Amino acid sequence: MKILITGGAGFIGGNFCHYMVKNYPEDSFVCLDALTYAGNLETLKDLLNKPNFQFVKGNICDTNLVFNLFKKEKFDIVVNFAAESHVDRSIENPKIFLETNILGVQTLMDACKKFGIKRYHQVSTDEVYGDLPLDRKDLFFTESTPLHTSSPYSASKAAADLLVMAYHRTFNLPTTISRCSNNYGPYQFPEKLIPLIIKKALNNENLPIYGKGENVRDWLHVYDHCTAIDLIIRKGKDGEIYNIGGHNEKTNLQVVKEILKYLNKPESLITFVKDRAGHDLRYAIDPSKITNELGWKPKYTFETGIGPSIQWNIDNKKWLKNVESGEYLRFMENHYKDNIIDKKEEEGITY
Ligand SMILES: NC(=O)c1ccc[n+]([C@@H]2O[C@H](COP(=O)([O-])OP(=O)(O)OC[C@H]3O[C@@H](n4cnc5c(N)ncnc54)[C@H](O)[C@@H]3O)[C@@H](O)[C@H]2O)c1
Repeated sequence: MKILITGGAGFIGGNFCHYMVKNYPEDSFVCLDALTYAGNLETLKDLLNKPNFQFVKGNICDTNLVFNLFKKEKFDIVVNFAAESHVDRSIENPKIFLETNILGVQTLMDACKKFGIKRYHQVSTDEVYGDLPLDRKDLFFTESTPLHTSSPYSASKAAADLLVMAYHRTFNLPTTISRCSNNYGPYQFPEKLIPLIIKKALNNENLPIYGKGENVRDWLHVYDHCTAIDLIIRKGKDGEIYNIGGHNEKTNLQVVKEILKYLNKPESLITFVKDRAGHDLRYAIDPSKITNELGWKPKYTFETGIGPSIQWNIDNKKWLKNVESGEYLRFMENHYKDNIIDKKEEEGITY
């Protein structure tokens, strides 16, 4: 099978590329990524010389580029991780979120429709459901929980989900959607909570926590997200939505204290800052559909997954340093220019 992975130079897409290339040597993979600030080719450096892996630099909103790629490669499966993904950035500048997260999805699905695929999989988020009250521990998001978004980020992801469902219903496109809770693990960009706290704690800096740190997130190790998507693209039913989560609800304060304990750093580093506008209170996923119908089970609990993830950040200081210094932006030019196809440089094949 030939599989297109978009956004594969990012955190989850990068982990998915590693997971798939390792586990399916008989399949071939193309990673399409625009290498925005969040895309880091260094994450994929061990894959760039593999015969069954190809990296293409390009934007999912670029119709010519996307159509030409589909025409040439004849993909069986498309898994779309490409997105603007940081809530705070969406509050500052919503437009790029609407372009990539909605119009990019439309472009990809139009290509799927024109050139034919066996499955288009949209990687979505539990944030499309909005939030749950802190005092109702009995409530969980199911696949039929109404969409009720809070941020421009989640609104753009919800719009994409609706578009995916519309393409399934109107054009019979074979689609699936997964909605996962918060991820942690290797290769996460250090603007997100867990790697940010690890980085700052290691430097003995103050740790900024929104509000009182009471907001609850349902944390899943990125490896478990990858196994779930793998199952969905192979065994999931067309037109279906699958929630992914491992019942690992933690307040932000609990997460930070856990990291400080592992690093043997004092809790006095914690500093509470003004809450984020529209900050969701609690996310909690009910994963019984993917468990019962596809047999998915997570490998990690938060307690077993967080230690190795903290250790990854300690052991991979060079990767983190390159991200922080912007050095990773030069990585492509310096080391891998011969292995990368920038579709803009190719002669256009018209569609
Ligand atoms: N991080 C989480 O906890 C989480 C949880 C649930 C769902 N998700 C979803 O998973 C997906 C991946 O999240 P992530 O945390 O890995 O994001 P990320 O920001 O780390 O990576 C996004 C990747 O997409 C690429 N990209 C951005 N715009 C593009 C465009 N127009 N064309 C091509 N490539 C583009 C970036 O260069 C980057 O490599 C997103 O769709 C996100 O909504 C994330």
